Amino acid sequence: MELPPLTLDRTAERPLAVQLADALRAATAGGALRAGDRLPSTRALAATLGISRTVTAAAYDQLLAEGWVAARRGAGTYVQHTPPRARCSTATSPQPDAGPVAVRQPDRPAGVDLRAGTPCLDALDRAAWRRAWRAAADPPPDLAPDPVGLPAFRGAVVEHLLRHRGLPADPDTVLATAGSTAAVAELARTFPAGARVGVEEPGYQRAVSALRAAGCAVVPLPVDAAGLVVDAVPPGLAAVYCTPAHQYPLGARLSAARRVALVERARAEGFVVVEDDYDGELRYDVAPLPLLAALGPDVVVHLGTASKLLTPTLGVGWLVAPPAVREAVLANRAATGCRPATAGQRVFAALAAHGDLPRHLRRLRRELSGRRAAVVAALGAAGVPVRGDEAGAHVVVELSDGAAEQTAIEGAARRGVLLDGLARHHAGPPSTAGIVLGYAGPQRADLLHALAVVAAPPWMQGGREARGGWI
Ligand SMILES: Cc1ncc(COP(=O)(O)O)c(C=O)c1O
Repeated sequence: MELPPLTLDRTAERPLAVQLADALRAATAGGALRAGDRLPSTRALAATLGISRTVTAAAYDQLLAEGWVAARRGAGTYVQHTPPRARCSTATSPQPDAGPVAVRQPDRPAGVDLRAGTPCLDALDRAAWRRAWRAAADPPPDLAPDPVGLPAFRGAVVEHLLRHRGLPADPDTVLATAGSTAAVAELARTFPAGARVGVEEPGYQRAVSALRAAGCAVVPLPVDAAGLVVDAVPPGLAAVYCTPAHQYPLGARLSAARRVALVERARAEGFVVVEDDYDGELRYDVAPLPLLAALGPDVVVHLGTASKLLTPTLGVGWLVAPPAVREAVLANRAATGCRPATAGQRVFAALAAHGDLPRHLRRLRRELSGRRAAVVAALGAAGVPVRGDEAGAHVVVELSDGAAEQTAIEGAARRGVLLDGLARHHAGPPSTAGIVLGYAGPQRADLLHALAVVAAPPWMQGGREARGGWI
């Protein structure tokens, strides 16, 4: 069970146990927690939130006394309440899991590809996939395109956002898109000509290209171990594009304090924040942080995508935006005839309707959590520290300079492993060097083989700490 973000204020006078009970009650009333959901043990929740077990136990006792939760002997604590929203859920009874999907691979370069960005098709259940495509083909062809997106798709997105991203979104604020990058391009076309848009540096260069193609002036913003450096955002921007859940490519999670600061500045200075939540569903051993869109629905455009969750070939994503932005995007769609295709939306909605989407997400998380542990262990054993492993499906190994990065890429390529360097993720001259190592794409056996290659000296020349190894 995925817990929604639970925000506790240690400086407040209200006792932490009361705050925690309030947060859990609110999550239940809002539908993020449902009847039958199993809460973590008091010990596990205390560890996740970094508070004492006495606090979690007191909060649970309070909720038990009020009847929000029930304790089953030896089986844990369960939510008792069903909020009204859950009753119109589209989920039906779960289907048994079938075997892994036999994946049709497009033309790929020879070797094991450890470049970031590919989804984990190993985790896709073939029976569920087939069932969803069949269901998607059931309705007659659409008469006219729906610029907003199919109601069933938007309903599935609302449910997904509430359950897995802690964002209560009104279906009317959700638009279907053709994916996050396409959504950035659509948004960029609604900005005034020459608008100055802040982007993370290093950052996602397809978003940078989409912004530039629409005539925006891109302003690189620094990132550090706590994500985008909000204090460095200059005045006079029309928008800031960022990846708070797992900064692309360095992998930091934007700190809670910076999230609040960014939203407050957006409000005060009148800019829009574009939150690209491209792999936000993937997080390991760390507490969730509130989405920017949850903190500032009036100033944040939230972008989600099925590309990492399922596959980019579906070509579906979603956008949750304040009314003015949504209207501007729809006006642009009307003027240009651009609109998201419905086939992928139908497949996504069918996966959700059969309960296969949350089941897939659980399987994906399990698979990627194991892979991430293997990556960290293999590189750790070789004395190679990694960054950005708390979330997503890639990690970063920093190197001393561009020459070391090039040496690493070429050395791995000679041994049949394709690596990605940080250099190409900069809008300006590279300010940081290293390898972006994606672990979702290859089949598991290939990944383990490639890790043995990547972790083996002496070809990895140029590390800062020990010349001849990674830093
Ligand atoms: C930061 C970031 N945003 C978005 C995407 C892709 O999203 P989509 O396929 O929906 O355009 C990627 C893919 O690698 C990404 O790295």
